[in-house]
Amino acid sequence: MTEQNKKVVSDYNGYDYKKIFWEDADRKYEDMADRLAIRRLLPRKMDTFVDIAGGYGRLAKEYLDRAKTATLFDYSQTELDQAKEEFGDRINTVQGDIYHTPFKDNQFSCLLMVRATHHFEDLPAVIKELNRILEPGGVAVIEVANKRTLPKMFRYWFKKSKVNPFDKKPSNLKNIDKDGFYNYHPAYVEDLFRKSGFEIADILSVSNFRSQTMKKVFKTKTLVSLEKKFQKPLASMRFAPSIYYKLVKKSTDNQ
Ligand SMILES: C[S@@+](CC[C@H](N)C(=O)[O-])C[C@H]1O[C@@H](n2cnc3c(N)ncnc32)[C@H](O)[C@@H]1O
Repeated sequence: MTEQNKKVVSDYNGYDYKKIFWEDADRKYEDMADRLAIRRLLPRKMDTFVDIAGGYGRLAKEYLDRAKTATLFDYSQTELDQAKEEFGDRINTVQGDIYHTPFKDNQFSCLLMVRATHHFEDLPAVIKELNRILEPGGVAVIEVANKRTLPKMFRYWFKKSKVNPFDKKPSNLKNIDKDGFYNYHPAYVEDLFRKSGFEIADILSVSNFRSQTMKKVFKTKTLVSLEKKFQKPLASMRFAPSIYYKLVKKSTDNQ
């Protein structure tokens, strides 16, 4: 393994993420919860936009009409090919590793990164890179896998898990050499964003009702309408599995 790709912990090449994770599993509620948050947080009009670790472009319909140019960046060529098949010339696809992107300083006016933080061994390096490629005043919408969720608190209190959700250090839930799976404390990421040159402009609590029991009891439509009502009011609690941040890159004189 070279120094260049040492930190790639999750390779989706050859894996049909679209079919296996989204289409064959019951995740309509989670998909809609992501979309609701993105509709609220992404600017209505964007100039140069990039979806970081954007996979097969699951969320492309949420940004294609808002952006003058849209780029999909991912490590997996398998997924980028699927996106090209679906969206053709409407999307530019760029293959690469988040730790070494091919983009110029200040290249984008807006970026999105969803369901990717759990793969990153070195989140500070990733956030630094995202800050570099964004123009001053540019907007980054970033979803973070939260370690401080209610189920994780109960598992810890009832000694079902040794992972302390109140400890601010990132937790590594699986074997990192196989498929690292990191979760982050909100205080840790918020501190990291500020230290990396971002201001936090908005926060949403997302996938609040992600539970097999809730899905059995309620219809997807009901869960989605509850989700829509509660993403903003629950944000102050920071206990949902996904926390969405809208960040603005500070200009260098502000940092
Ligand atoms: C769970 S998927 C999320 C895809 C998309 N954002 C979504 O929400 O549907 C995680 C994505 O991160 C990509 N990825 C993982 N490590 C990466 C890295 N080091 N550089 C670029 N992309 C990476 C994977 O290829 C995969 O497409």
